[in-house]
Amino acid sequence: MTDPFSSEGAKAPPKPFTATEGRREIRSFVLRQGRFTPAQQRAFDDAWPRFGLDYAGTPRDFDATFGRSAPRIVEIGFGNGAALRHSVRMDPARDHIGIEVHAPGVGRLLNALAEDGNDNVRVYHHDAVEVLEHEIADGMLDEIRIYFPDPWHKKRHNKRRLVKPAFAALLVRKLAADGRLHLATDWADYAEQMWDVLDATPGLRNRAGPRGHVPRPPWRPQTHFETRGQKLGHGVWDLIYDRDPG
Ligand SMILES: C[S@@+](CC[C@H](N)C(=O)[O-])C[C@H]1O[C@@H](n2cnc3c(N)ncnc32)[C@H](O)[C@@H]1O
Repeated sequence: MTDPFSSEGAKAPPKPFTATEGRREIRSFVLRQGRFTPAQQRAFDDAWPRFGLDYAGTPRDFDATFGRSAPRIVEIGFGNGAALRHSVRMDPARDHIGIEVHAPGVGRLLNALAEDGNDNVRVYHHDAVEVLEHEIADGMLDEIRIYFPDPWHKKRHNKRRLVKPAFAALLVRKLAADGRLHLATDWADYAEQMWDVLDATPGLRNRAGPRGHVPRPPWRPQTHFETRGQKLGHGVWDLIYDRDPG
């Protein structure tokens, strides 16, 4: 099968990413001038009205969005959405909010969600930091997931990494009193940074003890970036932090 998001017939995305550019100095992503295919356009046209959430910059009533009040999971930077789709299917009792800036990945997931037809998922095509800051009320999330965040492994790019003290404090604010944070990375020095930052963040307790990690849990399937990391000879570190009211 051809990749629907690869090249031909490219057009401009119907819903371009509309972050308030320049507001934050350093972002965790650089938007590439990608190409947009008819299949991707169709995904946005057909499935966005059902699964998409337009960023408005004000607190959202998620009970109204989902038509129920259930525990909620946010996945930040879901890539092509394989892990999110897996969780949506295996965890129908919880609602899922995926956030991703890369349009081809969003399109790919929208197509998959339309195929599956589950209703416990919604998607933002926007910067997760802004969504968390402005659309998600404090204490609302049962779980936050960040799988294989961009490693920005060159020293001069390290500053773009998502997991930094201010971002960690934002995550803590959004978690419910019994919530948890799950991260995975295949970069040893990013795992070190995660421990440096998160083990020291008030309100979080590393489930595996200081600088500890856990085996990959069943709700996280092995996805593209992990497989690529393994081919490069990288290890994998899953880190789970429980919200610790202190
Ligand atoms: C290395 S990929 C990993 C994708 C996926 N989690 C996986 O494991 O296959 C990191 C993803 O995070 C997204 N990303 C980076 N910063 C983001 C942000 N601030 N908000 C939303 N998505 C972001 C990137 O566009 C990219 O798709």
